Amino acid sequence: MKRLQGKSALITGSARGIGRAFAEAYVREGARVAIADINVTRARETASEIGPSAYAVEMDVTQQGSIDAAIASVVAEAGGLDILVNNAALFDLAPIVDITRESYDRLFAINVSGTLFTMQAAARQMIAQGRGGKIINMASQAGRRGEALVAVYCATKAAVISLTQSAGLNLIKHRINVNAIAPGVVDGEHWDGVDALFAKYENRPRGEKKKLAGAEVPYGRMGTAEDLTGMAIFLASAESDYVVSQTYNVDGGNWMS
Ligand SMILES: NC(=O)c1ccc[n+]([C@@H]2O[C@H](COP(=O)([O-])OP(=O)(O)OC[C@H]3O[C@@H](n4cnc5c(N)ncnc54)[C@H](O)[C@@H]3O)[C@@H](O)[C@H]2O)c1
Repeated sequence: MKRLQGKSALITGSARGIGRAFAEAYVREGARVAIADINVTRARETASEIGPSAYAVEMDVTQQGSIDAAIASVVAEAGGLDILVNNAALFDLAPIVDITRESYDRLFAINVSGTLFTMQAAARQMIAQGRGGKIINMASQAGRRGEALVAVYCATKAAVISLTQSAGLNLIKHRINVNAIAPGVVDGEHWDGVDALFAKYENRPRGEKKKLAGAEVPYGRMGTAEDLTGMAIFLASAESDYVVSQTYNVDGGNWMS
């Protein structure tokens, strides 16, 4: 029996990376999945590569009108919304003395406001449907601690963990489960960008930070997007009905909490 048979899912930022791997996994488990991304060209390519159970939706999580339109198009396409994954996010780093307001505002707009107001729109839809739902927010090990060069991103992910706790407590009476996943270091285009920023600020050759980050993981390597799909399926399925407001580390042993 497929664990998400007949479910309708929306995954923000799923044109590539972890969100894309979640979309593939959800489709394998029987769901219809909206590949919702600001990069709609790439979202269309991804949806057509995944197959007929995936479809592209243009969505900018920083714009309320875009959030509302994305939820409405999922309802029109799939007859409702059962699963939301708040996955879209932006990374940046700089020493405290170099952080710009522009970077701060952009990261909080996508990672925090985007998560909250997409969660709100999805919850309104799920409450109206009256059949519960599953909301999964993407946090990070960065939300568990400070990092010298990563103050703003760390703060956004700490906020995601906190929002998950409050929203989960508020929405469980509607049988809407809100939980989060905190990955460690996951290889892919995102980490290529992280590596380039560390190369600049720590004066390293490109690729070195990635190697170091992988070597430090107790499991012995960086994660892959596929390493996270088991938790993403669990939190979207009926198996997690009694799990409320939690953030799960899926990080090869990097962090314990
Ligand atoms: N890769 C890692 O090592 C890692 C570690 C911990 C947590 N995470 C978290 O996991 C999630 C996915 O990470 P990833 O590595 O796949 O990232 P990624 O950068 O590869 O993908 C992010 C996606 O979000 C989209 N996006 C950006 N701004 C958007 C907006 N305003 N509206 C809608 N979509 C937008 C991008 O177009 C892109 O497709 C993020 O929340 C990230 O913070 C990643």
